[in-house]
Amino acid sequence: MAASSRLLVFSSLLCSLLFMATSSSADLNQDVDITWGDGRARILDNGQLLTLSLDKASGSGFQSKNQYLFGNIHMQLKLVPGNSAGTVTAYYLSSQGTTHDEIDFEFLGNLSGDPYILHTNVFSQGKGNREQQFYLWFDPTADFHTYSILWNPQRIIFSVDGTPIREFKNAESVGVAYPKNQPMRIYSSLWNADDWATRGGLVKTDWTQAPFTASYRNFKADDACVWSSGASSCGSSSGSTSSWLSQELDSTSQERLRWLQKNYMIYNYCADAKRFPQGPPPECSLS
Ligand SMILES: *[C@@H]1O[C@H](CO)[C@@H](O)[C@H](O)[C@H]1NC(C)=O
Repeated sequence: MAASSRLLVFSSLLCSLLFMATSSSADLNQDVDITWGDGRARILDNGQLLTLSLDKASGSGFQSKNQYLFGNIHMQLKLVPGNSAGTVTAYYLSSQGTTHDEIDFEFLGNLSGDPYILHTNVFSQGKGNREQQFYLWFDPTADFHTYSILWNPQRIIFSVDGTPIREFKNAESVGVAYPKNQPMRIYSSLWNADDWATRGGLVKTDWTQAPFTASYRNFKADDACVWSSGASSCGSSSGSTSSWLSQELDSTSQERLRWLQKNYMIYNYCADAKRFPQGPPPECSLS
């Protein structure tokens, strides 16, 4: 607790002292690099749109140019339409190495008309196994929707169109490592995972429907804390202070979160007694 509040002070100080304008352009050419897929990932419309595609030979992916140590990051995604069974679109933050930290959104495709699963996970110091899964309350293939990750020293909040769906609290007080020392990049990829993704691997990818395409736009991380030469600096081009650095869910948001989880959460590791016969992991008792 003490360590994390010291860190917050440290981060806030950095943010006010080392104010640095980070690019807030809507040009994806300036924010991300295409990393694989041999032409299957493309940045179009002067950087306004990015598409990933998958066919039998390969998927594709991109990563952010910046590394971040805390951030409030938003991206709009429109997922693979039609029969997307077997495909997975991943959108996540990750650091490097075997004891890496990671914050995941993964979208598991489905047969036409059947619901996608939004799969989430949090890794700290290489340890994950913290899955929560959701159905969405809209068709994520019909239009763009905003998927956000707020990551500050006290909590990680996953939101969809501004509605929080999951909160992972800093549980260092009960001995659980928290992602706060390793800078992370944003990664995204579209790949074939028909060995497990749809109905646990029962429904295979229909390659006659390929190529499968997911689209991205309106990336925003403009007052995130950008990591560069061993230090993190936060700030926005408009000079606003990074209030998300100490943000928590107010009582209205907590209520919405509870309502949403009650109605749309289909898996929660904290409630999986078969998997954790000795009782749920310690962080589960905080929420
Ligand atoms: C796909 O649809 C089936 C049937 O409605 C459902 O059980 C499953 O959760 C859906 N999503 C995935 C990714 O399998």
